[in-house]
Amino acid sequence: MLELTGITKRFGAREAVCAVSLSACAGEFVVLLGPSGCGKTTLMRIIAGLETPDEGTIRLCEQDITRRDPRERDIAMVFQSYALYPHMTIDQNIGYPLRVRKRPAAEIEAAVKNVAARLGLSGLLANLPRQLSGGERQRVALARAIIRRPKAFLMDEPLSNLDARLRVEMRAELKHLQHELKIVTIYVTHDQAEAMTLAHRIAVMRDGKIQQYDTPANVYHRPVNTFVAQFVGSPSMNLIPHGSVILGVRPEDVQLSASAQTDASPGRIYVTEEMGNETIVVVRDGSSQITARCPAGARFEFDSPVWYRFKPGKVHRFDSSGTRIQE
Ligand SMILES: Nc1ncnc2c1ncn2[C@@H]1O[C@H](COP(=O)(O)OP(=O)(O)O)[C@@H](O)[C@H]1O
Ligand SMILES: [Mg+2]
Repeated sequence: MLELTGITKRFGAREAVCAVSLSACAGEFVVLLGPSGCGKTTLMRIIAGLETPDEGTIRLCEQDITRRDPRERDIAMVFQSYALYPHMTIDQNIGYPLRVRKRPAAEIEAAVKNVAARLGLSGLLANLPRQLSGGERQRVALARAIIRRPKAFLMDEPLSNLDARLRVEMRAELKHLQHELKIVTIYVTHDQAEAMTLAHRIAVMRDGKIQQYDTPANVYHRPVNTFVAQFVGSPSMNLIPHGSVILGVRPEDVQLSASAQTDASPGRIYVTEEMGNETIVVVRDGSSQITARCPAGARFEFDSPVWYRFKPGKVHRFDSSGTRIQE
């Protein structure tokens, strides 16, 4: 459906995107995940046609669109800043993409009513953007993007301006909406929880390169390297250097005991964090630190002795360069 092949983009001597190949199937929700500066926005701008790649091709529905004008790509975008027209009502903002395409007034009115109802905006159509909350404005931006049923959606950190609670709420709405519309979506975020919850597949990026492109479950359970292992999951995977091998253990796979166990290593409680539904416990063993996820109510005193062990079959192994050692 959407296929990127060997996309490279340089700004002067800097390679912002390096030989990225990525394909998305019809109706698929693909998330680009990576730290700030890794090239996510540049890649999105290339797909949208706002930047030209130095190398590589983009195909959408079997057609090469690499050099095509942005307006001829049939791709809709939603960005972090909602970019609504401040002097237009919500009604006019949502209908705008159809008005510039000179659709009949009756068709526009019906389409606006339809998407507004779908996004819970029906009561706000006569308002101006400044009369709306951040969450409502972001919904208007979404409504404007979906009104003309594009071939693909691009969303670049669309929820990052919202407060934490609203972000989680909108995340669920977005996921449901994408499921209903079944339009291929490329979604950018630096938030691993957003990536895990929304994506059919996640492309984890670092320094302009894709590290791993796989399902959320595989990215989580079979990370290809220590970067992916530590970027996905919260708290992060423990990495323990062990001779020439680095052991990786997720906090939920660390078991603690207050009494000595034959197959467990001794350590001391550094700190405990009660989260309500669980308790995060940090253990110090010499110079290394191990984070464990424990049931709610687990009680450990500062500096008290503790024994930790890793659940069998749950230890990841990486070589000294950080690459996963296939078992
Ligand atoms: N127009 C530009 N000119 C020069 N450098 C740029 C430009 N756009 C992006 N970059 C650089 O390319 C790299 C990737 O940026 P960007 O795609 O915005 O990353 P992200 O969206 O992942 O934070 C950064 O080092 C950034 O400074
Ligand atoms: Mg960006």
